[in-house]
Amino acid sequence: MAILSILEYPDPKLRKKALPVEVVDDSIRTLLDDMLETMYAAPGIGLAATQVNKQKRVIVIDITEEKNDPLRLVNPEVIWTSGTEEMDEGCLSVPGVFEKVSRAEKVRVKAMGYDGNYFELETEGLLAVCIQHEIDHLEGKLFVDYLSPIKRHRARKKLEKDRRQKATNPDQKKSVL
Ligand code: NI
Repeated sequence: MAILSILEYPDPKLRKKALPVEVVDDSIRTLLDDMLETMYAAPGIGLAATQVNKQKRVIVIDITEEKNDPLRLVNPEVIWTSGTEEMDEGCLSVPGVFEKVSRAEKVRVKAMGYDGNYFELETEGLLAVCIQHEIDHLEGKLFVDYLSPIKRHRARKKLEKDRRQKATNPDQKKSVL
């Protein structure tokens, strides 16, 4: 396995649209393994292939504190949603920035797993938010796109300042998607 480098906002490569995976073969399984290792090392709770500069519809998620319940989704597609909720979000591609985003409260998602078989999953709360956040990445969309222009500008300034200071993320306790 290998740790991949994560693109950071406002890198234009984060805006590329990911292509559907036709077959879950060894190259896709290697990508899934590498993405999980990269996500755990970051540390984060979700990572989309777009963030590691691979234009494939592949995401990995693990919201457990023990980091022992990985979810691997290939060609994920939300097929049903219900309700709305607001949650603080962060992102490995927008380090140090946390803002409230409104999303569906419950989702049903269809995807292929590690074995290439399709399955469906219905979930809510943090996992539902995470799935929606990661699928957005595959569309070239970032959570900061939902913010007001003023808040987005502030986020970008904070990123630039943190980069100048080479500051590490002080919000280690928060979930980074
Ligand atoms: Ni993200």
